[in-house]
Amino acid sequence: MTVERIGVVGCGQMGGGIAQVCALAEYPVVVMEQTPDLLHRGLARIDAQLGRDVEKGKLSADQRQAAMARISGTTDLSSLSECDLVVEAVVENLDEKRRIFAALDRIVKPDAILASNTSSVCIMEIAAATERRDRVAGMHFFNPVPVMPVVEVVKTIVTSDDAIDQICAVADKLHKTVVLAKDTPGFIVNLLLVPYLLDAIRALEGGVASRDDIDTAMKLGCGLPMGPLTLADFIGLDTLLYIGDVLLNEFHQEKYAAPPLLRRMVIAGMVGRKSGKGFYEYTR
Ligand SMILES: NC(=O)c1ccc[n+]([C@@H]2O[C@H](COP(=O)([O-])OP(=O)(O)OC[C@H]3O[C@@H](n4cnc5c(N)ncnc54)[C@H](O)[C@@H]3O)[C@@H](O)[C@H]2O)c1
Repeated sequence: MTVERIGVVGCGQMGGGIAQVCALAEYPVVVMEQTPDLLHRGLARIDAQLGRDVEKGKLSADQRQAAMARISGTTDLSSLSECDLVVEAVVENLDEKRRIFAALDRIVKPDAILASNTSSVCIMEIAAATERRDRVAGMHFFNPVPVMPVVEVVKTIVTSDDAIDQICAVADKLHKTVVLAKDTPGFIVNLLLVPYLLDAIRALEGGVASRDDIDTAMKLGCGLPMGPLTLADFIGLDTLLYIGDVLLNEFHQEKYAAPPLLRRMVIAGMVGRKSGKGFYEYTR
């Protein structure tokens, strides 16, 4: 089996990006959303993003049209029956992901591969909801998907080498660099990034320096594209807190404990760029 048709469940920020890069790599893509309205909005976001690429001269109008023509939308999971690889990108919720994987397991071909784009849920827990545990893996893209050049491919203790090879071949066609990770919390990037971001918030809370000086110091002192508080706002403080809590529950190490300021900002709805306010303010 080689992957010829790709399914994507969830057409939000990540699912839309995944569908877009797959379509640009000439895969026929079936995207599933919960309601016709959400599907319509998700597909419109992809089309608008491709439109911006045309304006910037990165794509031709024909390439945009051809990519959109390769994407078909559905609100019925059974429309993914002919897909060889399905990438799930719904909300970060274990029960919801397990429910979708159990349903997909009954719908897709026996050798089809099921992958999750989760940032923090244990892949083995998702795989255990299926009868094809050796064909379930993590395929963790980064935001924004069309721009970020790396994908973490996550192998559980039972994922077959063949499934991993197939996923790596797809990632290669998408022009993404693959890094292989074990199914441990945070994989590679979040395991290393999250404690750093939590420490930056602790530094602000402890009065080490101002918001701007923490960001400027790390940006200019370490040659980073943005400071940690700006990055935390971009990721979403709710997401950062959620991943921090997952890491803390698993490893019981102080470095993963959320600073009180982070928890309070999330409770207050100040979750960063997407809410208009986090460490910085944003006009939406
Ligand atoms: N946002 C990021 O920076 C980022 C980065 C890497 C991975 N992730 C992971 O990607 C996944 C999606 O995150 P996102 O930021 O795109 O979220 P999002 O809220 O933008 O999108 C999720 C989409 O899934 C849809 N959905 C929910 N339940 C569904 C169902 N049963 N069937 C079909 N669609 C359903 C929602 O309607 C929504 O459009 C999460 O697991 C998240 O951890 C996010």
